[in-house]
Amino acid sequence: MPLPDVKLIDLPKIPDERGNLSFFENSRQIPFEIKRVYWIYDVPGGEVRGGHAYRELQEFIVALSGSFDVVLHDGNTEQRFTLNRSYYGLYVPHMIWRSLENFSTNALAFVAASAAYNEADYIRNFASFRQETRHAPHGI
Ligand code: TYD
Repeated sequence: MPLPDVKLIDLPKIPDERGNLSFFENSRQIPFEIKRVYWIYDVPGGEVRGGHAYRELQEFIVALSGSFDVVLHDGNTEQRFTLNRSYYGLYVPHMIWRSLENFSTNALAFVAASAAYNEADYIRNFASFRQETRHAPHGI
């Protein structure tokens, strides 16, 4: 069963023989206002990033180069997305456990986020995450 609210979002693609162009804008292609962007790169083979959930943060993840898998879990169900094109991305709502793994050589994971970095928003323990999803006021 697909995880609620998680979705792949197609981005505009302006094809051009000089090279293609894609973009996204605040609140237009993605369902939140962007407050921060960060990117993950130079990942050694076999490494896993993430392995946490956010209480409030929403993210939009794009493979600007190469490929990697985003593994999501809502406390009951796991879903895996392979990202390997720069003209779509994955919207991840809050209170979803997420890991990034299976990075190809030269993979570049670009992430737009709905808030500034806040360690207090992280849930870094899966058992605590499951506990919080059971009592979530957000209905997941
Ligand atoms: P983290 O989100 O924990 O990455 P991962 O779960 O893949 O290990 O971030 C790693 C470190 O980078 C952590 O010490 C906090 C820091 N960081 C920032 O300072 N600002 C940011 O926007 C992000 C995403 C991380």
